[in-house]
Amino acid sequence: MKFDVLTLFPEMFTPLKESIIGRAEKNNYIEINITNIRDFSKDKHNKVDDTPYGGGAGMVIRPDVVYDAYKSVKTKSAKTIYLTPQGKKLDQKIVEDLSRYEHIILLCGHYEGIDQRVIDEIAPEELSIGDYVLTGGELPAMVLIDSVSRYVDGVLNKESTLEESFSSGILEYPQYTRPEVFNKREVPDILKSGHHEKIENWRRKKAIEITYKKRPDLLENGNFTEDEIEYIKNLKEKNN
Ligand code: ADE
Repeated sequence: MKFDVLTLFPEMFTPLKESIIGRAEKNNYIEINITNIRDFSKDKHNKVDDTPYGGGAGMVIRPDVVYDAYKSVKTKSAKTIYLTPQGKKLDQKIVEDLSRYEHIILLCGHYEGIDQRVIDEIAPEELSIGDYVLTGGELPAMVLIDSVSRYVDGVLNKESTLEESFSSGILEYPQYTRPEVFNKREVPDILKSGHHEKIENWRRKKAIEITYKKRPDLLENGNFTEDEIEYIKNLKEKNN
């Protein structure tokens, strides 16, 4: 999986050198290429923006500069995404779908905005990471790279993606490690019993309970056994 990022702020992407994503890139499971849009300026001062037609505050990034940067990385099979608060909201389903592409191009806007004509020309998919406005598309691009890379073979061990929140439709069960007693709080006995089936059952119930408390909306379209449906019904009755 290859990511090409088009940005005016390449240095913002250094966090991706760390931890799991950093290791994934070192081990060649993913490739992250950062292209500085400014390198495609035709101006002797490396200018990339200009005043808006029609007047108004701020500057607008020129379409020709963005287009040349795009053409320098474009491939036939590439999926191009423009990060913008106007886009469709990113969720785990979109993340999973994106992980099937070989090549993803991420165009990061900035607070001043990009000339509409290059957006119309490239016709990227527009994605937002939530209903709030950031100063640019760089953090959203990193969120996308991180979440999508987790699905790329070799980046995580298989169970992590299968068991995790949202993929299974509900939130995760709580985890415990040593010490056995922390500030008088004990690790639940069942987890020390060595009884795998009972532990699995307990974890599943806890996951349902936590989802019921924190994100009840997720229980509406989950996949549950008859026993679990009964358990959810009881939770609802107890809390009414
Ligand atoms: N650019 C600025 N805010 C954004 C958001 N919430 N999502 C994606 N791109 C953005």
